[in-house]
Amino acid sequence: MLRQTLLRTANAACTPALTPAFRSSTFPRAVYSANTILNRTVFQGIRVVHTTIPVHFASTTQEQLHKNGLPRVNITKNLTANITISPPEGSPFYRARQPTTALNPIWLRDNCPCPDCIHPSTRQKLHTSSQIPLDIGIASHRVLPEGLELTWSKGLDDVGDWEDPSKSQPGHKSLYPWEMILGSYGGTPSEHRGTTRMNHKPVLWDEQIMKDKVLWLDYDEYMNTPDGLLKAVKHLQDYGLFFLGNVPIKDQEVATAAERIGHLRHTFYGRTWDVRSVPNATNVAYTNLNLGLHMDLLYMEAPPGVQLLHSLENNTPGGTSIFMDSFKAVELLKQEYPEDYDILKTTPNTFHYRNASHHLHYNRTTIVVDPMNDALTVNYAPPFQGPLELPADQMAGFYRAMRRFAGYIERPDLQFRHTMQPGQCMVFANRRVLHARTAFDPTKGNRHLKGCYVDLDMFRDKYRTTVQAKEEGAF
Ligand SMILES: [Fe+2]
Ligand SMILES: [Zn+2]
Repeated sequence: MLRQTLLRTANAACTPALTPAFRSSTFPRAVYSANTILNRTVFQGIRVVHTTIPVHFASTTQEQLHKNGLPRVNITKNLTANITISPPEGSPFYRARQPTTALNPIWLRDNCPCPDCIHPSTRQKLHTSSQIPLDIGIASHRVLPEGLELTWSKGLDDVGDWEDPSKSQPGHKSLYPWEMILGSYGGTPSEHRGTTRMNHKPVLWDEQIMKDKVLWLDYDEYMNTPDGLLKAVKHLQDYGLFFLGNVPIKDQEVATAAERIGHLRHTFYGRTWDVRSVPNATNVAYTNLNLGLHMDLLYMEAPPGVQLLHSLENNTPGGTSIFMDSFKAVELLKQEYPEDYDILKTTPNTFHYRNASHHLHYNRTTIVVDPMNDALTVNYAPPFQGPLELPADQMAGFYRAMRRFAGYIERPDLQFRHTMQPGQCMVFANRRVLHARTAFDPTKGNRHLKGCYVDLDMFRDKYRTTVQAKEEGAF
């Protein structure tokens, strides 16, 4: 019996391959109560010869671990927080603020990176979290240069059609690269967000800060060099805005520029769309009128995260573009009128588009705080508001709060202005940076912009993979 177990265990030995695809994949969030405990006698004493499969660490990380010694691992059975890991001082994973990382065994079993648990080509999980026995125990462990190896006391339960993909009852072996358990997943929730959910702290800006920090990128550098792309995605992430220069004045070039970041978002306005004054316009953007600070497509369930506008022609007076960091306005409102901040966080505003045989409609609060994903999202688009759908007694408070919020948005010292010249393209975060255009005179010349959208998911994807490639020395 013991011999069979040993053989099965050996067959189930983990072969983690920490490929870039693995690292950039997002683990399902598994949240367990703190009282998931190891309260059974665990199967003790399994030792098998382990074949070490190379893990793709950055070599400096590997060297530093060797030089400074391996992390200290403490496994306490029958206690709640039963696995703690303390990286040595000087190791790349050492954090003075939090020298010891506690890990939950159920989470660890759920996130085993071996090919029985994560399909080697799809990189997707082969079991469900519900299959992990709540009393799963650690039969034995080994501290190896490449990571922490755990041998489990039992296999996975069958749940519905879900079976234990490794068929190891008991004795599955898992090897967790140090980078996985002490890097992004071993840290604090905000560190998780930093690496996987991209909740970096945005740099809030006003007119002066944007004048100092504004990024003008040459189109060729942006399109053809990884460093150019990195600069672009970092600036978009931090400031929500950058500009391209020397973009060829071609009708669909904006789509090419957008696809450097990700797939285009098609909408009922088309794959790309023209912003110029037309008779009987179906959108205020297609007039010569002043168009106040706003975000696009808030009447949709998922408004696009990134917008590009490429100037093809501009020889008419007026038509200056204005940008404003709505996060700055939220910060000021929160500081100075906290009760209005609360109202805008909890009261739904109505957005709609009802024209040209379309009827789109969506309610959302003006300020969205979501600690699970984006810390902050703003929904502000006065031209696209529909009649409020609030009880009458809530309206006065809402209108007051919006007036105060708009007071910051309309402050010239918080706005950045630029009149687009042909061959220039603006790229901005539609859920953060408000955009506007002053009126222009279509009788004195032509103004023609070509625009398109990219979803925020595509931008995040490009951001994570580009930043990671840089960190790994790919360029
Ligand atoms: Fe717009
Ligand atoms: Zn596994």
